[in-house]
Amino acid sequence: MTNRSNAQYPTTRLRRNRRTDWSRRLISENQLSVDDLIWPIFVHEADGIEPISTMPKVNRLSIPEAVKAAKEAYALGIPAMALFPYSPAEKRDEMGSEAINPDNLVCRAVAAIKEAVPDIGIMCDVALDPYTSHGHDGLLENGTILNDATIEVLIEQSLRQVEAGCDIIAPSDMMDGRIGAIRGGLDKAGHTDTQIMAYAAKYASAFYGPFRDAIGSTSALKGDKRTYQMDPANTDEAIREVALDLAEGADMVMVKPGMPYLDIVARVKNHFHVPTYAYQVSGEYSMIAGAIENGWMDRDRVIIESLMAFKRAGADGVLTYFAIDAARLLNNE
Ligand code: PBG
Repeated sequence: MTNRSNAQYPTTRLRRNRRTDWSRRLISENQLSVDDLIWPIFVHEADGIEPISTMPKVNRLSIPEAVKAAKEAYALGIPAMALFPYSPAEKRDEMGSEAINPDNLVCRAVAAIKEAVPDIGIMCDVALDPYTSHGHDGLLENGTILNDATIEVLIEQSLRQVEAGCDIIAPSDMMDGRIGAIRGGLDKAGHTDTQIMAYAAKYASAFYGPFRDAIGSTSALKGDKRTYQMDPANTDEAIREVALDLAEGADMVMVKPGMPYLDIVARVKNHFHVPTYAYQVSGEYSMIAGAIENGWMDRDRVIIESLMAFKRAGADGVLTYFAIDAARLLNNE
């Protein structure tokens, strides 16, 4: 918005409003609260916890540990968590079959968390990459990721997750038409109240590097994801992606990565005025967490500042691996 006041120094001194803490609070334009946080966690089949070498202080959790984490998140007031499975090579195949196993790790983890902490929201990724031997999000045939055939599997995957207790289905695969197809599949099965958060504008990004290590996809992935994820050069295309996903029934949309794509967050929010989320992805997390570990940046301040940026851009919430730390800071614990 243009400043129409014709303000001029020395009559106007913007530092006046910044002089005191109470005044700074009074003029502050955006608020970050615990209600804005979604906490992504990684689960594994093994017992206990296992550090992820590329993500300082983030661990893969056994199901009992994930339940403990959910209790902690709930106690802090964090509204929702997102679950991601670590899959070793023996759980992967060409078709990503484990995705539709009703007894797979994610489904068991969802059920266990929902049983122990029924009032925390659980979000599940819908994509085949944790389960495919080639590490792609869809079915691969002669070097091509098949769109429509993949969607059929994604519908099954969504149904299994919802049956296990998942509240928010989050398709992250970037196939065309999958939101409508999944919505139809869920509705047909009577799950008309299950929410869908579309990874609507998801870019082919190097910032996912640490995540692929966390879920065991790094060595699996052959090639890149540029035939389905977006080109970092584009913004109009993000608007088209969001428009399609909303028309197909998405309840909420997400932009991903976060900080390098704040312009997209702002544009999507301003254009559609719908619930809009940003994902502060693994690479963003690790850059900040690494700098904190090295003493290069102040931990508390950089965590809050990095999350406030999303609110300023217009996001209604943020998926962040810092959710627990941020919640403690915001609760003054
Ligand atoms: C899988 C998926 C990815 C992320 C979330 N879901 C990685 C990818 O598309 O390769 C990235 C999350 C992160 O980096 O924190 N479809």
